[in-house]
Amino acid sequence: MTTDTHTTEALTTDTLRGAALRHGASSDFDAAKVDATTIEDLQAVGSDKWTRYEGCIGAFIAEMDFGLAPCVVDAIKEASDHHRLGYIPDPWKKRVATSCADWQKRYGWKVDPACIRPVPDVLEAFEIFLREIVRPGNSVIVPTPAYMPFLSVPQLYDVDLLEIPMLRKASSEVTEGEWLFDFDAIERAFAKGCHAFVLCNPHNPIGKVLTREEMLRLSDLAQRYDVRIFSDEIHAPFAYGRNRHIPFASISSQTAMQAFTSTSASKSFNIPGTKCAQVILTNPNDLELWMERAQWSEHQTATIGAIATTSAYEGGASWFEGAFDYVRRNAALVNEEMGGRFSKVGYIRPEGTYIAWLDFSPLHLDDPADYFLKKANVALTDGRECGAVGAGCVRMNFAMPHPLLEECFDRMFTALHVDGLL
Ligand SMILES: Cc1ncc(COP(=O)(O)O)c(C=O)c1O
Repeated sequence: MTTDTHTTEALTTDTLRGAALRHGASSDFDAAKVDATTIEDLQAVGSDKWTRYEGCIGAFIAEMDFGLAPCVVDAIKEASDHHRLGYIPDPWKKRVATSCADWQKRYGWKVDPACIRPVPDVLEAFEIFLREIVRPGNSVIVPTPAYMPFLSVPQLYDVDLLEIPMLRKASSEVTEGEWLFDFDAIERAFAKGCHAFVLCNPHNPIGKVLTREEMLRLSDLAQRYDVRIFSDEIHAPFAYGRNRHIPFASISSQTAMQAFTSTSASKSFNIPGTKCAQVILTNPNDLELWMERAQWSEHQTATIGAIATTSAYEGGASWFEGAFDYVRRNAALVNEEMGGRFSKVGYIRPEGTYIAWLDFSPLHLDDPADYFLKKANVALTDGRECGAVGAGCVRMNFAMPHPLLEECFDRMFTALHVDGLL
């Protein structure tokens, strides 16, 4: 692979993002229909999010309640009409790779489809990274709060977990507070012999979108200590305002060699059950290793997932822009509530994702997830599942119908108010 295949092109995200919308095409995302969706409708769909905790608003698992892009529905129907449900064949693997590479152009990245391979899901890619690159007996750094499986899966591969808490920069008159890497602690861990790091960008559950400078600093440290980076970019399309997603591997030939990238259309199009994520292997040694030792995972990837993913990447941009507008509207509500009725709760505005991190420790709630489940019928993720720093915190998925999000905050506020906590 030449360096040209992974350098950032002069394409700006603005020229690409939502191009269809700006050129007059309307989104096929139906916001009014989402607004009108009731709890009963969502329970009838039968997702884990709406059936695990009966009668509760599901705000824990990272799924969006917005239905499917019409192009995805059509592609799945067409696949069924034409009996395309056998093991995944090479032509579909190639289409996944090409359409994923085209989608990466949204972020100004011109990546060679030849280094993109299918894998059932991002977590399987993480498992392969642990098994084949990190290897048993070694360690991996996970900045916390973290997406929960990053903390539980390493031990299954006999890999030690090093949790490094993110630093919270307090808000000032000019900034509203931000999350920062603890580069000193990271360097100390590298110096002691850790050679692997999990980068989740945009970062679930805190919604941080990394800047180029932060990633370059991480890359320079990684270079000094011979560290490999698992770059989870599943939330890539969800970056708000001036924040821009920059694929770690796209920054330089150095980052391309360090990165083991995985992404998927599953968050942006809500198709995680179709099982077709992608690895982007910009280090040629990884590609070779993959073909020797991990090709089996490609065989486990679902053909229907390849079809759904390809249709989403190829034809779903305008639906996604509509969905993302809806997510932005919900994010504005979360910001408003946290700055208003819930202003005593610790909160840093997310820069991306559809997930918020709420710190109830100022209210001295020991187990806010359990509290809101029992007293407000709202199901959130217990912050402790995201690392030791998560005590007193919850992770909230706000990609739900806007009226239900309002109800969610009403329910939570009423419970706290009745108990004299707010
Ligand atoms: C950051 C992150 N990575 C990975 C996953 C899981 O993705 P997959 O279903 O492809 O394993 C999620 C799901 O919520 C996630 O938020």
